[in-house]
Amino acid sequence: MMKEFIQNMPKAELQVHIEGTLEPELLFELAKRNKVELPYATLEDAKKAMPYQNLPSFLVSYYANLKVLLTEQDFYDLTLAYLEKAASQNIRHTEISFDAQAHLNRGISLSTVMVGMHRAMQDAEQKCKISSGLILCFMRDLSEDDAQKVLLEALEFKDWIMAIGLDSSEMNNPPEKFKNVFDRAREYGFLTVAAAGEVGPAEYIWQAIDVLHVSRIDYGIHCVEDPDLMSRLVMKKIPISVCPVSNVKLGIIKSMQKHPLKKMLEEGLCVTINSDDPAYFHAYLNENFLAAQAGLSFHKDEIYEMARNAFLSSFLDNDKKEKYLLELDHYYNQ
Ligand code: ADE
Repeated sequence: MMKEFIQNMPKAELQVHIEGTLEPELLFELAKRNKVELPYATLEDAKKAMPYQNLPSFLVSYYANLKVLLTEQDFYDLTLAYLEKAASQNIRHTEISFDAQAHLNRGISLSTVMVGMHRAMQDAEQKCKISSGLILCFMRDLSEDDAQKVLLEALEFKDWIMAIGLDSSEMNNPPEKFKNVFDRAREYGFLTVAAAGEVGPAEYIWQAIDVLHVSRIDYGIHCVEDPDLMSRLVMKKIPISVCPVSNVKLGIIKSMQKHPLKKMLEEGLCVTINSDDPAYFHAYLNENFLAAQAGLSFHKDEIYEMARNAFLSSFLDNDKKEKYLLELDHYYNQ
């Protein structure tokens, strides 16, 4: 019954990396199409290469696999495959992160990446009735100068970019390293988000709020270690895009039963559920809701509240938010 309720519920997803939706089947297909050699002899070997010990070891395979993505069509196929899957899970709206530098640094132009993804988003909106936006994430293990260069290049595509974000290897790469480039992004009129407190300390979440002035925090689970931070997040209504299955699969949280999501919700934080890298963690959004519900015994009203938070915390304009919220409320009240 809960499964059906979650499956059929209209949902929004706010934290999903397009590169993390690359399924082994598409990886192999693109490798063949582009004559790129993979470190796996068979599809089965590629599937077995998961799971991962931790965030750094996961990021190594995640970035290595990107070498199959070369053309606009490749980015189109990747993005359309995710959007079709998302629509089949009753996701109405999704805000998709991407690592521009991971492609630029391989000699792929920003326009190849942007045009491929944008075309897929338009086609999916027509065919599958799913709306979507893009979040260009700076890779925090690279320098602030490198991020500044990408920001300048991104201006050409400003209308296609919903927000600027910050991702990749968090340890020893605090948000404050990117103060200037986030100031600049806001001056250009970009909304901003940042991953903070995934593996890093609560201090990084403070920095994301006070130094980068972001509108949303991704992951954010280490906030529970700091009661003052919890109060601030509640008072300022700063949304947190939590990725429960990812946190467990990367060994950051020992088991779903120990995940702080329940505590975060109970203490009044605006939390949402997200899939992060669904192809790698074998869990799209519905599977994330189901795993969190099973591990933490969420009631229907809590599941609904988190789904509602996602539409409320999205970067949609108020009319569109209202439309989706009405649909969700109608579904819940039936
Ligand atoms: N990029 C893709 N997945 C990520 C994660 N879980 N943390 C940081 N950067 C990422």
